[in-house]
Amino acid sequence: MKFFVTGGAGFIGSNFIFYMEKKHPEYEIICLDKLTYAGNLATLAPVMEKQNFKFVRVDIADREAVSSIFEVEKPDVVVNFAAESHVDRSIEDPGVFLQTNVIGTQVLLDACRKYGIRRYHQVSTDEVYGDLPLDRPDLFFTEQTPLHTSSPYSASKASADLLCNAYHRTYGLPITISRCSNNYGPYQFPEKLIPLMIANALADKPLPVYGQGLNVRDWLYVEDHCAAIDLILEQEEIGQVYNIGGHNEMRNIDIVKLICKALDKPEGLITYVTDRKGHDMRYAIDPTFIHEKLGWLPETKFEDGIQKTIQWYLDHRDWWEEIVSGAYQTYYERMYGNR
Ligand code: NAD
Ligand code: TYD
Repeated sequence: MKFFVTGGAGFIGSNFIFYMEKKHPEYEIICLDKLTYAGNLATLAPVMEKQNFKFVRVDIADREAVSSIFEVEKPDVVVNFAAESHVDRSIEDPGVFLQTNVIGTQVLLDACRKYGIRRYHQVSTDEVYGDLPLDRPDLFFTEQTPLHTSSPYSASKASADLLCNAYHRTYGLPITISRCSNNYGPYQFPEKLIPLMIANALADKPLPVYGQGLNVRDWLYVEDHCAAIDLILEQEEIGQVYNIGGHNEMRNIDIVKLICKALDKPEGLITYVTDRKGHDMRYAIDPTFIHEKLGWLPETKFEDGIQKTIQWYLDHRDWWEEIVSGAYQTYYERMYGNR
């Protein structure tokens, strides 16, 4: 079985490659990644020399390049993680989000049509459902919840989902889609909440909490997400959407306080800054369908996962210190300088 894993030099894609290498050493994996600011080849060092692994630098929106890789390699399965993934960046500059997340997906779907595929899996997000009010804890996103996006990021991801459905319905392409809640764990780029707060706290820098920090996210340890995708790929039914989440809702401010405590840093570092435009209040997944259909349940409790994650960032300073000391600084200054 030959897999194309797009975006495999990023956070979740790299964790997925490690998960699959361990679980299915007989599979051949080819990582397709453009290596944007969020892609890091060093992350893939543990698999780079393996016989059954190959890395190809390519933009998924480059139709010609993608077509020639399909023609040569003829993959059985494509798992598409490649995306612009940061909401704040999408508010600043939506164009690249449409290019990669929508056009890139279309280019991959067209190549799958042309060369044939056993499965195309689209890695999507719970953000396509919009948000839920804080005063209705009884409400959750199900697979039937209407798409109702807030940010250019979520709009681009929802558009890609709709394209996948259209290619399934119109051309019979064997697609599946998963919509996951917020992930955390090793190798997450330090622009996202948890690694950013860990990196800043360790440097005794201010911890920028948007608004009042009352927004709620439903956190899932990245390995549990990878396990869910593996199960989805193993089952036969196509055209199906799966919500992935673990009933682990946390307010941003509580996560930041927890990180302060774990690192023995003062809560005085917390700085309330101007809220994100269009900021979604609450995400919460109802995972009943994937649990009943595929027997999936998250294995990592948040208390354990966050400790493991903090320890990983303590043990891998080289990995993220290189990022925060480079071009990322310009982004940080632009995003947080006058906030
Ligand atoms: P990430 O930003 O860490 O990594 C994205 C990867 O895609 C990088 O390696 C980057 O180089 C690559 N990439 C970007 N544009 C590309 C292009 N045009 N061609 C080829 N490669 C390109 O993202 P992540 O957090 O690992 O997210 C992976 C996927 O999971 C995304 O599709 C995202 O929407 C989805 N998702 C993420 C979360 C989360 O909490 N991080 C939750 C749900 C869904
Ligand atoms: P983020 O990690 O960007 O994920 P998403 O926006 O996709 O949920 O942000 C998680 C939450 O943390 C979100 O409500 C925004 C908030 N946040 C801050 O308060 N400060 C920050 O510096 C960042 C990056 C996020």
